[in-house]
Amino acid sequence: MDKKELKKIVGDVRKQNSIFSDKSFLDNLAVPNSIIGRENESKKLVKFLLSYEKGLVVPLVSIYGRSGSGKSTIVQFVCKNLDVNFCYVNLRKAKTVFGCINLILSELGHENLKNAQGMNNAFVILEKLIIQMLDKSGNSLFVLCLDEFDTLFYDKRGKPSDFVYKLVVLVEKLRALKKHMCIITISNKVLSEFNLDDRVISRIGTSEIYFDSYSQSDVLKIIRNRAKKSFLEKIDDDVLQYCANISSEEHGDARRAIDLLRTSGEIAGIENKKISKKHIDEAVSQLQKNQITTIISGGSYHFRLACAALSRLTYVNDEGWHSTSELFKQYQKIVSSETRQISYRRFSEMLVELVNSGIAVSKTESKGRHGYGSQFKLTVDPDLIGHSCFTDWWTSVVESKKKKDDALRSVEALKSMSFGKRYSRFGNLYHNLGL
Ligand SMILES: Nc1ncnc2c1ncn2[C@@H]1O[C@H](COP(=O)(O)OP(=O)(O)O)[C@@H](O)[C@H]1O
Ligand SMILES: [Mg+2]
Repeated sequence: MDKKELKKIVGDVRKQNSIFSDKSFLDNLAVPNSIIGRENESKKLVKFLLSYEKGLVVPLVSIYGRSGSGKSTIVQFVCKNLDVNFCYVNLRKAKTVFGCINLILSELGHENLKNAQGMNNAFVILEKLIIQMLDKSGNSLFVLCLDEFDTLFYDKRGKPSDFVYKLVVLVEKLRALKKHMCIITISNKVLSEFNLDDRVISRIGTSEIYFDSYSQSDVLKIIRNRAKKSFLEKIDDDVLQYCANISSEEHGDARRAIDLLRTSGEIAGIENKKISKKHIDEAVSQLQKNQITTIISGGSYHFRLACAALSRLTYVNDEGWHSTSELFKQYQKIVSSETRQISYRRFSEMLVELVNSGIAVSKTESKGRHGYGSQFKLTVDPDLIGHSCFTDWWTSVVESKKKKDDALRSVEALKSMSFGKRYSRFGNLYHNLGL
């Protein structure tokens, strides 16, 4: 890149930003200063957190609901505005259970530990840090927020249930010292879906708060408020309504609505125009592309092969659901001969990863006396996935499908030409073409 190219990039970014007054209101990671609605959920959370004041300690509160329903935001907003010390971590940033404890320690200002230093040692340090923090602030309650809690359970070797047990034991230890701790877990799933063992379950009680998905009008209220603060000019209400409708198609998702609003603003900025519905449509496809590229480029080679296998089967057969064994066969066909293949079991885990990333959905089906098997289906256009995985390979898949379709079409044409004749003059041509 030379200076001229950089100058052009700077110019483009300025253009993108030209219609905003303050983009921070469209940042999904920032906690807003005011919350729209959600009084009931906030009230329940405050009640759980402050029950220690009357002698009842709630060791763990489980917050659950679908994405974009305000879970992360409301938990942080409440904790920030109470007289408590709190530590908020998003466990998606940690790949292992030990990575989780390191994430917590580093959030509390401690350096990372090596695996060899051990989990018990890490907990001794955590306890010390919490006591120091509470002593310094004069608060009595420490709140540990574990967002995207389900990612902890991807590391089966790291004994996630043991980790939660150690946290709960820490709560009990602190209580004996007249200090209090409450763990808040945030997830799309309800707590009973996790593999927690009985000694954990019997200690944590049943303090749960469900975040229902927003209605279309809730989403509209949220983005109306953000639009007012972040754009120089007023956005037409029917454009905001359109954005809210799209973001509520599957379930009311405030994150998607804010992302859409920001991206369509950037697209409109480049065109030097006011935001219109067309810009929202363009933003929908741009966001989907970005999301897929991020997921795929962050995945391992075998993860991309699993994506490619599902995309090829879906594309070539025009069909949705595919079994693990079908997909594994397809994977074996496309894996490069120089690469060592992963086992069937590891491949099934890869497919679960695919579902976790949102690219596919799965269902379990009975195979009669052979027990149960999983089936997988893409949630996005196979062409988009195939391209992002292996561009050259995908181009050849598309070409060969086109050839096959063309051949089929000409056969159809021949069939219609020979309509009415018992024996076609093309002899067994159909047969030769494999029909
Ligand atoms: N009630 C609300 N009032 C204002 N903004 C909200 C509200 N609920 C969610 N948001 C915004 O929507 C986006 C997604 O919310 P988030 O808390 O990340 O959802 P979740 O954690 O449930 O996936 C964030 O930008 C957040 O600021
Ligand atoms: Mg969240």
